[in-house]
Amino acid sequence: MSVRRLAEDQFQPAAFAFNDENAAWADKTIQKYPEGRQQSAVIPLLMRAQEQDGWVTRAAIEKVADMLDMAYIRVLEVATFYTQFQLAPVGTRAHIQVCGTTPCMLRGSEGLMSVCKSKIHHHPFERNAEGTLSWEEVECLGACVNAPMVMIGKDTYEDLTPERLGEIIDTFEAGNGASITPGPQIDRHFSSPEGGPTSLTDEEPKKKASAKKVVAEAATAKVDAAPVPPSEAARPKSTDAETNAALKTPATAPKAAAKNVKAVEEQAAADAGKPSLSDKNRPAGIEKPATPDDLKLISGVGPKIEGTLHELGIFTFAQVAGWKKAEREWVDGYLNFKGRIERDDWVKQAKALAKGGEAEYIKVFGKKPR
Ligand code: FES
Repeated sequence: MSVRRLAEDQFQPAAFAFNDENAAWADKTIQKYPEGRQQSAVIPLLMRAQEQDGWVTRAAIEKVADMLDMAYIRVLEVATFYTQFQLAPVGTRAHIQVCGTTPCMLRGSEGLMSVCKSKIHHHPFERNAEGTLSWEEVECLGACVNAPMVMIGKDTYEDLTPERLGEIIDTFEAGNGASITPGPQIDRHFSSPEGGPTSLTDEEPKKKASAKKVVAEAATAKVDAAPVPPSEAARPKSTDAETNAALKTPATAPKAAAKNVKAVEEQAAADAGKPSLSDKNRPAGIEKPATPDDLKLISGVGPKIEGTLHELGIFTFAQVAGWKKAEREWVDGYLNFKGRIERDDWVKQAKALAKGGEAEYIKVFGKKPR
């Protein structure tokens, strides 16, 4: 780790002040933190000072310390610890941070540093003759998948070659840095494979779709294989042509489709280890009343569970209060609650709420419902 010190006195300005816009931003930022925790704003304020002046001056460190009621040494510790803070003047048009960590090094970061040395200055942190450019080597910047890369300001430029970095440096030097699109500098979208996707192409969704089809067909086959009710068995058997024609009639096709959907849902529920919706222990549902009870008042019921209960036709405390053991077990299994309905005693809670609302709940449980 490099030794990080403040710049020589000759570079240090006598004073620092945030401009009006940044001062207003700083006040607002400090207020984000709870009383007594304003010091937490130290990093954002130092970063804003750097964005304003290009680097963090001693005067800026002292100003931030005063604003946050901190000892100067504490802010100095922060500024010298984090390498994103520049402690000496850097190039006014671009300071190029070249990642030199292993993946970037293996993919050519040394070539990028050679370009910086030849175009800017042989030594890092030294500015070019015009004072417009500077560079440094940094540790991993988190874009290793597109190595090698550099960071300029808040943008990364990835998949670089020495030639491309040379062009980028020239463009910044000309004051046109904003014209370069950051990110990969080759035919790559973000971190997708070079030249386009090689996985999750169209084939994958097709495979998933066909897997779903197999499940649906299996479920349909089960339904078709179910014993024929005597009344139907007595009917003369229709030919395939007749069956097809019947399936096409508007009256029967929706029924058949609904039957298949139900079968698929039941199959999916069974696969998930849920009890069947047609199980005899499923509690009876009702039509949604005009003003359903707020089931979320029962401890253990959140918005999602309430939605599921509604799907099951459960809308009132009275319904829950009336559940027998087998019904409670069915709901517990359906919600995959692992016994929580008993542990939270939904029935007792629902009885209290059905009898006298929150007041009765407080009387019974000594606390407000959640
Ligand atoms: S190693 Fe260079 S970005 Fe991670």
